[in-house]
Formats: sequence, C-alpha cells, structure tokens
Amino acid sequence: MKIAVLLAQNHQVTAVDVAKERVDMINALKCPIVDAELETFLSDKPLKLRATLDAEAAYSDAEFVIIATPTDYDTDTNYFDTSSVEAVIDQVSAVNPAATIVIKSTIPVGFVQRLRAERGINTLMFSPEFLREGQALYDNLHPSRIIVGSQSEAEAIKLFANTYLAMRVAFFNELDSYAMAGGMEARQIIAGTGHDPRIGNHYNNPFFGYGGYCLPKDTKQLLANYSEVPQNLIRAIVDANHTRKDFLADQIIAKAPNVVGIYRLVMKAGSDNFRRSSIQGIMKRIKAKGIKVVVFEPVLQQDDFFGSAVVRDLETFKQVSDVIVANRLTDEIRDVESKIFTRDLSGTD
Ligand SMILES: NC(=O)c1ccc[n+]([C@@H]2O[C@H](COP(=O)([O-])OP(=O)(O)OC[C@H]3O[C@@H](n4cnc5c(N)ncnc54)[C@H](O)[C@@H]3O)[C@@H](O)[C@H]2O)c1
Repeated sequence: MKIAVLLAQNHQVTAVDVAKERVDMINALKCPIVDAELETFLSDKPLKLRATLDAEAAYSDAEFVIIATPTDYDTDTNYFDTSSVEAVIDQVSAVNPAATIVIKSTIPVGFVQRLRAERGINTLMFSPEFLREGQALYDNLHPSRIIVGSQSEAEAIKLFANTYLAMRVAFFNELDSYAMAGGMEARQIIAGTGHDPRIGNHYNNPFFGYGGYCLPKDTKQLLANYSEVPQNLIRAIVDANHTRKDFLADQIIAKAPNVVGIYRLVMKAGSDNFRRSSIQGIMKRIKAKGIKVVVFEPVLQQDDFFGSAVVRDLETFKQVSDVIVANRLTDEIRDVESKIFTRDLSGTD
C-alpha cells in the first residue's frame, strides 16, 4: 500500500488485492490502515493510482510487479508460509514473463535463489521493507537504507535486523523482570545502562513481550534458517518472549483479581494493528487460570474477542475491572492508576 502510494506520485500504479473492501477504499482514496502520512497523501496528493481485483489484467502490462502479500509463520512446517508470494509470482509469469518482480514481503533466507532455480525466472529480486507500524509511509520516504538483492544476503539482512530489534526489546524486558523480582527500580537501571553511548537511551522501554506482526515470526524464521548452524542466542531470543509473558501473567494472577481488564490490544499507541501483540499472550495465560477477562479496544468491531466481552464504554470498563492490564499507559486511564498493571516506564515505544 505505502509503496503503491509512493510510486504513484510519478508512475502509473495499479494496486491488486484479493480483499474487495481494500480495493474499494483505495479507489475512494481512503486509507485502509491507520497511518497519518498515508492518509494525507491519499487525500491531498495527485496520485496516478487505481486498485483492482483483476490481477491478470494488472500484471499483464506492468514493467514492475511489487509483491507485499502476507508471509505468516506456519507452526506445522516451522517456516514462513510463502504461498501467497508464490501464487503472485506464478500469476505474473503466466501473463507477463518479462516483468521484473520485486518481493517486499519478508521471506526465508534462500527463497529467491530457490524460486529462480525452480521456476526458471531470472527477473525475481528481493528488497526488504524496514518500517515502523503506524509510520510506514514516513519510513519509506526517509529510508534508513535501501537494499535490493537477488542473492540470499538481502533476505538475511532483513531477518537479522528484525531479530536484533527483538533481542534489544527482550533484553530490556528481562532487565525489567529482574528488577521486579528483586524490588528494584527498573527505570533507574535502564537509564544508567543507556548512558553509555554504545548502548544509548533509545528503544529501551519495557514491553509485555516483543510483538506486532513481524518480530515474533521473523525471529522464528531466522532460527529455522539456523537448522544446520550452531547457535545459542537466536533460540534464546525466541524463548525469552514466552518466559517474559509467563512471569508477568503470574504477577497479575497473584493479585487474585475476579475480573481483569485488557486495555487496548494494539502494540503501540497510534496503531490499529493488534496482530500478534504481546498483551494477547498475557490475556491467554490469565484466561487459562479461569479468571474473567474483559477487553477495551475501540478498533474491534465485534462484541466478543476469543470468549471475552468487549466493553465499549471506558468508564464501565474501569469500573468492572479489578486489575487493568495496559501495555502502554495513556492519559485516559491515569485516573484509575491504582488498578493499573503496566511496564510502560517512559511513555515511549
Ligand atoms: N507491516 C509491516 O510493518 C511490515 C514491515 C516489513 C515487512 N513486512 C512484510 O510485508 C508482508 C505484508 O505485510 P503487511 O503487514 O502489509 O500485511 P497485510 O495483511 O496488511 O497486507 C497484505 C495484503 O495482501 C493481500 N493479499 C493476500 N494474498 C494476496 C494475493 N494472492 N494477491 C494479492 N493480494 C493478496 C491481503 O488481502 C492484504 O490486503 C509480510 O511478509 C510482512 O512480513 C511488513
């Protein structure tokens, strides 16, 4: 979506999707995700952009086809499910074999080389996306780096970059768990640690775990790519996320609440995306102990989220919850501070 908008400033772009509502929204110049800059571009800029469900027609006269379909981690194969990417590659090859295909979806190391050999396509390459949730267009307009590759190095760069970010979050999360267990001030330890410029005082606010769509799946995929290579750290980064959530859920359960309120499912303030957010792991563990859980999440349309009631009115939510679990603190819940369980120490992401 963000690549389509970016390129449509200067080039004719056709956005293909299998979801009709997304196609309709783009054609109505409405943004299908929460992203301030993307919304402004769609409403204010003259863009050469249209969206369609007709993949064949769109691919047949394109010079470049850019693929950004999902690659979920498949727990049965312990590998990314790349079927949607492969389906698009096959569609393009059938109608327009001369088109250059650029994969932006995150893929396993070795994917492009394998596909090039298996399908006999030499116009296939990978250019990883490096962006933050809710700031996708901004990060595309001001990229930290642009990487394009047809060898496996580009795929490895993407997975190592995200695994490093997960490691950093997991490190400060474990520092925080240690401080909690020993009755120490995590905030002080984090500040003092970060004053070393090699460490830095950035990206160090504890979370319930690292989460969002990408970090959990990309770390697992990198671990799978290590199957023939000795390692300790990559496995530890994957495992640390479960340990952190177990520890925090136990702390909440120890308060013996009758009702636990989950305040926002999203990973970050300013996002509408709660895929694989870490608070859901906490929620699952609390529910498994038979404790009633209610959810406050304005982004949700439905009244029920995995068997828990979605409470629309914030005041009611505050009243019925004995403990309010919040991955990030906001002003709208500060009046019930005594009920809040959070590890948000600095109000940053
Ligand atoms: N979201 C991020 O911040 C981010 C960052 C870097 C990399 N990535 C990678 O980009 C890829 C996509 O992630 P996303 O967050 O944009 O996913 P998304 O689910 O928001 O968007 C994917 C879109 O692809 C459509 N789609 C699925 N199958 C299709 C097909 N066969 N043909 C056409 N459209 C199809 C879906 O309907 C959906 O609209 C993933 O591999 C992800 O790991 C995402």
